[in-house]
Amino acid sequence: MPENPANGRTPLDRTPQWAALGKHRAELGELHLREMFAADPQRGSRYTLQVGDLYLDYSKHLVTDRTLELLRELAAALDVAGLRDAMFRGEKINVTEDRAVLHTALRAPRGAVVEADGVNVVPEVHAVLDKMAAFSNRVRSGEWTGHTGKRIRTVVNIGIGGSDLGPAMAYEALRAYTQRDLQVRFVSNVDGADLHEAVRDLDAAETLFIVASKTFTTIETVTNATSARDWLLGQLGAGQEAVAKHFVALSTNAAGVADFGIDVANMFEFWDWVGGRYSYDSAIGLSLMIAIGPERFEEMLGGFRLVDEHFRTAPAEQNVPLLLGLLGVWYGQFFDAQSHAVLPYSHYLSKFTAYLQQLDMESNGKSVQRDGSPVGWTTGPVVWGTPGTNGQHAYYQLLHQGTKVIPADLIGFAAPVGELAPALAAQHDLLMANFFAQAQAFAFGKSADEVRAEGVPEWQVPHRTFRGNHPTSVLLAAELTPSVLGQLIALYEHKVFVQGAIWNIDSFDQWGVELGKVLAKRIEPVLLTGEGAEALDSSSAALVARYRTLRGR
Ligand code: F6P
Repeated sequence: MPENPANGRTPLDRTPQWAALGKHRAELGELHLREMFAADPQRGSRYTLQVGDLYLDYSKHLVTDRTLELLRELAAALDVAGLRDAMFRGEKINVTEDRAVLHTALRAPRGAVVEADGVNVVPEVHAVLDKMAAFSNRVRSGEWTGHTGKRIRTVVNIGIGGSDLGPAMAYEALRAYTQRDLQVRFVSNVDGADLHEAVRDLDAAETLFIVASKTFTTIETVTNATSARDWLLGQLGAGQEAVAKHFVALSTNAAGVADFGIDVANMFEFWDWVGGRYSYDSAIGLSLMIAIGPERFEEMLGGFRLVDEHFRTAPAEQNVPLLLGLLGVWYGQFFDAQSHAVLPYSHYLSKFTAYLQQLDMESNGKSVQRDGSPVGWTTGPVVWGTPGTNGQHAYYQLLHQGTKVIPADLIGFAAPVGELAPALAAQHDLLMANFFAQAQAFAFGKSADEVRAEGVPEWQVPHRTFRGNHPTSVLLAAELTPSVLGQLIALYEHKVFVQGAIWNIDSFDQWGVELGKVLAKRIEPVLLTGEGAEALDSSSAALVARYRTLRGR
């Protein structure tokens, strides 16, 4: 086994800091945010932090000064900073895959030195960024043409997981910054309907496919890419020679790309020290760079960089990712919070939570420690949510009056994006009034006496009472720009890191996705021929038999 930075660590639940937190939690009892705010009129301004353009109000959390102190003591005792520094230094902290974890090098400035296996990776990173920029500019300007000489009007990114969610999320988030006569579509699902809907109204002569796959072995992506190539050649009535003008690849696997028939000259490289879910600021972001242009992409990288620096250097009391990570640990363990809601008050962030689901749940959905021994504590939460105000008319009922503790992040922006017509921009105050109102309602609720004072009949009072005391982080920025998006993503990346470090799990592997892949490979031939059904369990065998009957086989 490779050297494991966590070997020999005292198990989390046997540290005195963990015990102290448990005792403190018991002492806090049912303390209500109403009381905490009443006791400290400065709480709303005192419990705030700023990183870059992001203002964090964490006053509506179920914490006191003592809680925060104990949480920071826990982080110090477990040497979260040590693991952080090892990550930034390029040490192989992904122990089960024996890999460095260097997504932070993807946004290191030109001239910086970051070594993986003794090699400075920054020049390679910038060589790929330069190649992406040159290619993006050619597509954007129309200089890059398809097989028949027409300029490209649609880019279709084919990828899944980290090779899809990041660029798809960021393309939505930064739509206002995109070149509007060029659209980008995303195909991920192996369900043929996804590719069908993506290309059915396209002119193949004006379409560029980007095949995005770190490994270039992912069955969904290779299948969709093969079908896309067949569609393209069929539409154009052309031979293999047309592929070079309509297909490029983003991968770490040059041999796989060449086998597929894509010229490796049209491949944009990245490296095994970039995890899939940490990769959208690598070559995986090519579709985004084509959409927003290299300068905006660089602004976005600048946002990432800013938060990287903050995470690396800010003292614990001011370190925003550290704080957010610790708060999640606090609720998971000591309030039995099973899930975490992310509620962006921006239509442009409609795919933000889906992106975070992979980032957080694929990273921290683990139940063994780095050395393979079982954890004796709760790990990553279920992450979910959709943009406000839509969620308010769907599931907020449960958040306000249900029985579960669900900490939530509310993310909002002071200004609407610049290109909205004045009448639509004017709706922004209404959106943001909801944003502030919800944070207020979650925290303070509405007491039975307040309800009674409105003349509500006594039998209805319990139904119309809001307990409140639901913890939230409120993140506010001036505007959703490329830099701010980069800042937000880096913030969540490092928050997830902090939690993995506390829980002593490997946040950078994803063995949990393997079993389903292997079983699907075994079952597919059974669906086609029926042979081998007897080797399946009785439930799967019966389901497969029914499927075959329904398919007329
Ligand atoms: O779901 C497992 C996974 O390996 C993710 O971690 C990754 O982002 C995704 O599959 C896609 O992998 P690839 O980029 O190699 O096609």
